[in-house]
Amino acid sequence: MTKSEAKNRLEKLKSEIDYHRYNYHVLDRETISAAALDSLKNELFRLENEWPDLITPDSPTQRVSGQPLAKFKKTTHSAPMISLFDAFNEEDMRSWEERNRNYLKSNHSNDSAVLSRRDLYYCELKLDGLAINLKYSHGLLVEGATRGDGKVGEEVTNNVKTISSIPLKLRVPSTEELKKIGLSSAVCQQILLLVSSGTIEIRGEAIMTKAVMAALNKKYIAAGRAPLANPRNGVAGSIRQLDSKITAERKLEFYAYDLLLTDSDSGRLLERGELIERRDQADKLANLLGFKALRQNTVAADLEAVFKFYREIEKYRSSLPFEIDGTVVKFNDLKMWPILGVVGKAPRYMMAYKFSAEQATTKILDIVWQVGRTGALTPTAVLEPVKVGGAIIGRSTLHNFDEINRLDLRLGDTVIIERSGDVIPKVISVLKNLRLGREKKVMPPSVCPMCGGRVVRVAGEVAYRCANSRCYAVNLRQIIHFVSKGAANLEGLGPKLIEQFLTSGLIKDAADLYSIRKSDLLSLDRYGETKADKIVAMINARRSLTLDRFIYGLGIRHVGEETAQLLADKFSDYLNLTKREKIFHLAITELIKYFQNIKLEDLENLPDVGPIVARSLSDFWHSNVSLKLLEKFENNGVDLSLNPLAEKNSGGALINIDKMALRGKIFVLTGTLNGLTRGEAKDKIKAKGGRVKESVTRDTAYVVVGTNPGSKKEQAEKLGVKIINEKEFLKIIN
Ligand code: IVH
Repeated sequence: MTKSEAKNRLEKLKSEIDYHRYNYHVLDRETISAAALDSLKNELFRLENEWPDLITPDSPTQRVSGQPLAKFKKTTHSAPMISLFDAFNEEDMRSWEERNRNYLKSNHSNDSAVLSRRDLYYCELKLDGLAINLKYSHGLLVEGATRGDGKVGEEVTNNVKTISSIPLKLRVPSTEELKKIGLSSAVCQQILLLVSSGTIEIRGEAIMTKAVMAALNKKYIAAGRAPLANPRNGVAGSIRQLDSKITAERKLEFYAYDLLLTDSDSGRLLERGELIERRDQADKLANLLGFKALRQNTVAADLEAVFKFYREIEKYRSSLPFEIDGTVVKFNDLKMWPILGVVGKAPRYMMAYKFSAEQATTKILDIVWQVGRTGALTPTAVLEPVKVGGAIIGRSTLHNFDEINRLDLRLGDTVIIERSGDVIPKVISVLKNLRLGREKKVMPPSVCPMCGGRVVRVAGEVAYRCANSRCYAVNLRQIIHFVSKGAANLEGLGPKLIEQFLTSGLIKDAADLYSIRKSDLLSLDRYGETKADKIVAMINARRSLTLDRFIYGLGIRHVGEETAQLLADKFSDYLNLTKREKIFHLAITELIKYFQNIKLEDLENLPDVGPIVARSLSDFWHSNVSLKLLEKFENNGVDLSLNPLAEKNSGGALINIDKMALRGKIFVLTGTLNGLTRGEAKDKIKAKGGRVKESVTRDTAYVVVGTNPGSKKEQAEKLGVKIINEKEFLKIIN
C-alpha cells in the first residue's frame, strides 16, 4: 500500500468509525455490532502503526493516548466560566424576574419589552456532573479544560477525548439543517466557515450515568473501597485522572449547554446574540455539530410555563438515566445576555432553579426499629438534626438490616445524607475515615421492640420480623385510641398519619407523639414546612391533660371514660390537694405508686368496677411494658393535672398551667445541691410547670450546677446553654 493509499484508507476508516460512534453515543442508535466496530478500529490501529506520521488528533485511536501525566497544565479560558445563582421555589423565581424587570426599566428601558416575548425563557435540565470547556479549531478538538477557578482551568484534553459522546471533529451540518433551526443564509455560511476554519467552543457537563456509577460502586465495595457518594464526585475523579486509561474505563458522557464563537478574521470572541439569536437555536446547533441533545429542554413563554416544566421534570427525575439537581432557566433571547450582564459571581440572564436535593453530613445518634404492618422490622436512623435542602432533618430510613451492613453503618458514625424535595432523606454513605474507634456495631433486635415477642428471619428474606402476628395492629389501635377526642384529643392526627408515623419509625407508642420534632416530620415522605409546623404546634398546645383523660387514653382493657374519671377522682381524694394544687403538674411516679399499692378489693368496691376490671387495672399498673410507657410520657413532658377548673368533657383546656412561670422550660441538674435534695429540686421545677431531663440538648433552658458537677456542665458550655448555680436556681424557682 502506498502512503497515499494508506491515507485514503485511514480517512475512510476514521469517518466510518466516527459515524457509528455518533449513532451509538449521541443518537443512542446501534448501527454496527461491537465486534465489527472493533475490527475496524484494529485495522485503523495497524495502519497508523505502519504510518505514524498519518496519525491525526481526531483519530479514534487518540481517545486514549500517551503516558499518564505528572500534573495537569493550566489553561486560561477565553471567557470566564462563571457560576449560577440558585432558586429553590417559585417565590425565588418570581423575585428573580422582578429584579430583572426593575434592572431593565432603570438601565435599559428600550429592552424591557423582552419580558413579554412568547419565548421568554429556555428551560434546561441541570446536569449534575463537571463543567468542561471544549475548544474546536478548524473543526478539530484541540483542548478540553475543567472550570478551575473560573478564569484558569486544568487542561484535560486526553481525558475528555476518551468520552465517546464528544466528537473529536465537529460534524459539518448541511445548510438545510441549519436553515431548519431558523438561521438565515448569511448566518448559515458564517457558521460553516467557523466550523471549517474558525474557533468554536462548546461548554457543557461531563456526567456519569446512574448505571455506570452503580456498577463502579459495586466494584469498589467488593474491593473494600468506599463507594462514591454521588456522580459528581465520580466524574471529577474520572476527569481529573492523570492516566486517561482510567477516564476511559469510567464511560462518561457529555452534554453541551453553551456555545462560544470566535470571529475568524479578527479573532474576537463574539457576544452571545451576535450571530445566533436564540438559546434554543444554539442548543439545536450543538446537536447538529455532533453533540448529544437533551430532548427535555424547551422554551417557556413565562414563569408559569417554567413552573410546569420544573414540576414535570421533578416528577420523572428518578427515571432519568443520569442525576440532575434541578433545571436552568435562561433568557432565550441571547442578545439580552450582554445587556443583563453579570452581577457578582453569576449572570442575571439565567438562574439555576434547583430541586431542594442537598447533601449534608451528620452523626448517627441511634437506630430505632419499627414493626410494619406485615411484622417486618425496619430500622430508622436517629440523626443529630442537620439542615439539608433548606430543612432540618432528624431521621432517615435505612430500609432493612442488609442496608446497615451494606453501608457498614455504626452508632456514632458520621454519614452523608441526602434529601431531594419532599422525598424521604437517605443515608448515602459513611465517612469511615472520621471514626474514632468508639462507634458501635448495630445488631438486629433480639426481641420485638413493640411487644417483646420473638424475632424471626425467614430464610431467603431480607427483613427480620416480629413473630406475633397481631403486634402491629394492636399497637396502632392503641395509639389511635390515645389521640382520640375523649382522651388526649390530638386533633388532626388521624389514623392515616398515625400509621405513617408508626411505619416510618417516628413513633413506637403514644408517648413518642410528645417528642416529635419538626425535623422528624420533615424526614417523612411528603412533609413540607407548613404541615410539620402545624402538627408540632398542635401537639405542644395539648401537652396538658387531665388525669381522667390520660387514664382513659391508656386503653386499659375494660376502662372506659367513666371508670377513668372515677379512678382520677379516687387519686385526687388520696392526695387531698387544695384546689390550687390540683392544677399543678402531677408526678407520674406518684400515680404509679398509688395504683400499684391499691388493694384489689378497694378497686372492686368502686361503683361499676367488678373483679374483671380490677384485675385488668392491677395487671396494667404492674406490667413492665406499661411502666416504661408511663415513664416515657413523663420524660416527654406530658403535663397531668387534676384540673378542678375544667369542666368535664370540655376539652380539658388548662388555662392556668399556661400562665405558670416556668411552663415548658427544661432543666438539667448536675452535681450536689446544698440546701435541697435532687427530688425536692425536681418537684419545685415541676410545680412551676418546668420539666427535668437527664441530658443537655439545645432545648435545655438551664443547667443547674451543684458541687462536683459531671460532664453535663461541659456539654452545656459547648452548646451555649445557660448555666446557673444553686443560689440563682432558688431565685428563679421562688
Ligand atoms: S449554564 C454561568 N446550563 O451547573 C454558568 N449550567 O451550578 C453557566 N450545569 O457550572 C452554566 N447543567 O457546570 C448551565 N443546562 C445547564 C447546566 C449547567 C449543569 C452546571 C454547570 C455550572 C453549574 C452551576
